[in-house]
Amino acid sequence: MEFSAKSGSINKLASSCTVIGVFEGRRLSPSGRQLDRQSGGYLSALLKKGDLPGQIGQTLIVHDVPDTPSERILLVGCGKERGNNEAQYRRIIQAMAGALLDIHVKDALCTLTELNTKGLDLHGKTRLAVQLVRDRSYRFDRFKSNNKRSKDKLRRLTFSVSERSDVKTCRAAIDEGQAIANGMDLARDLGNLPGNVCTPSYLASQARALSKELRNLKVKILGEPDMKRMKMGAFLSVTRGSRQPAKLITVSYNGGGRGQAPVVLVGKGITFDSGGVSIKPSPAMDEMKYDMCGAAGVLGTMRSVAELQLPINVVAIIPSCENMPDGNASKPGDIVTSMSGQTIEILNTDAEGRLILCDALTYAGRFKPDTVIDVATLTGACLVALGKVTTGMLTNNHALGKALENAGQNSGDKLWQLPLWDEYQELLDSNFADMANIGGRDAGTITAACFLSRFTKDYHWAHLDIAGTAWHSGANKGATGRPVPLLTQYLINKAQG
Ligand code: BES
Ligand code: MN
Ligand code: ZN
Repeated sequence: MEFSAKSGSINKLASSCTVIGVFEGRRLSPSGRQLDRQSGGYLSALLKKGDLPGQIGQTLIVHDVPDTPSERILLVGCGKERGNNEAQYRRIIQAMAGALLDIHVKDALCTLTELNTKGLDLHGKTRLAVQLVRDRSYRFDRFKSNNKRSKDKLRRLTFSVSERSDVKTCRAAIDEGQAIANGMDLARDLGNLPGNVCTPSYLASQARALSKELRNLKVKILGEPDMKRMKMGAFLSVTRGSRQPAKLITVSYNGGGRGQAPVVLVGKGITFDSGGVSIKPSPAMDEMKYDMCGAAGVLGTMRSVAELQLPINVVAIIPSCENMPDGNASKPGDIVTSMSGQTIEILNTDAEGRLILCDALTYAGRFKPDTVIDVATLTGACLVALGKVTTGMLTNNHALGKALENAGQNSGDKLWQLPLWDEYQELLDSNFADMANIGGRDAGTITAACFLSRFTKDYHWAHLDIAGTAWHSGANKGATGRPVPLLTQYLINKAQG
């Protein structure tokens, strides 16, 4: 889908559909008032009849409005005239996107960036609108035999801005929104693919394909013999029960100076988590194909960063394997030695994410990182604590936590910090090894992060638990593309210094 920006009188801009706002009390937005005057009061007369009270989410399509240049006008309820907040602006744009996609117009003209939204300037409003329209038009139908998408879908959305000088701002915001949406689409596609297609080898091939498409990305794929050489005993213990070979995927992007320390993103890439010998219950087990959404989010972010050509160095590290039960699989009670040399008693084979991540985090140290952020669908407990709205964040560095929180606010892809206090560490005590891989029933998200913290002492590190936010369940089951907006925003902010 294409987006563009135009300035000029709304009374002269023609399109298949012009979108204007209506506030509560049946008041028209500034652009709406202009069109109303041109049409001899046609729109205000219509509002007087009570067809669109102006509540957020309401829409009304009007054809053949006299003396106006567009084929139709889409009226969108925008709530209070004095302004709205980001969540309300989202609902307004989502209502617009839904209506535009339903009526099958090919192009449209949007004036809604003129709304007064708390905390969002023209750049922010435009970028968010691009993301939301792209989000609404996302489909994953490659396994539906009848998947011919009608050709008459929305192909171009033009933002109308009042000043000529706004066009440049608007275009930059469009580029950013498109890059983030492209990263999200990649993350969603990879997440939605079934486990029998999206194997560790498939993820590796997609990383390679990405580096063929975007030449500023470099890829390195390591296999199990390499992992053995590096003594990744924790990672290898998880893949033992699988027929699919494990992969360690590294994608690097060098947009910064030669000597600049990189930000390293580590993504959990369990392409299916059955739980292993500590097998999971059957209900909703299919959703464990999403256990590679950390990997998908990290790859999606690399796409966004490479498209935006940010002046920064970034490395993505993806440990990927399946967690399966088998005669050769790890068993509760098994003790393994991680790449760091620390020993781990595997009390539950379903706590496998931390086992692959701990070795990947030790490996991350080789890149002499400025910062390491790992992203993982790590604990069901995070879903219990924060639901499907908020990503969990734990960190060993206060400034990094603040920077991530800001990025969450700026991008609307929100997170909340949980404590990583020493008092929790003893929950991981083991009678037989340096640590156990589970901490019992209490504070599951925190003890998982405590486990990882034992492998991240040499650098600034944050952990994002996306167990609740990476996908929707139920009727709308599907990957969300989170936390691509959050991570890309963090890197944009970081690149700006
Ligand atoms: N991938 C799961 C976490 C998960 C479960 C994410 C449900 C989203 C929805 C992870 O590997 C896991 O199984 N964690 C266990 C840890 C426990 C054994 C300490 C969990 O959360 O139950
Ligand atoms: Mn598990
Ligand atoms: Zn898992």
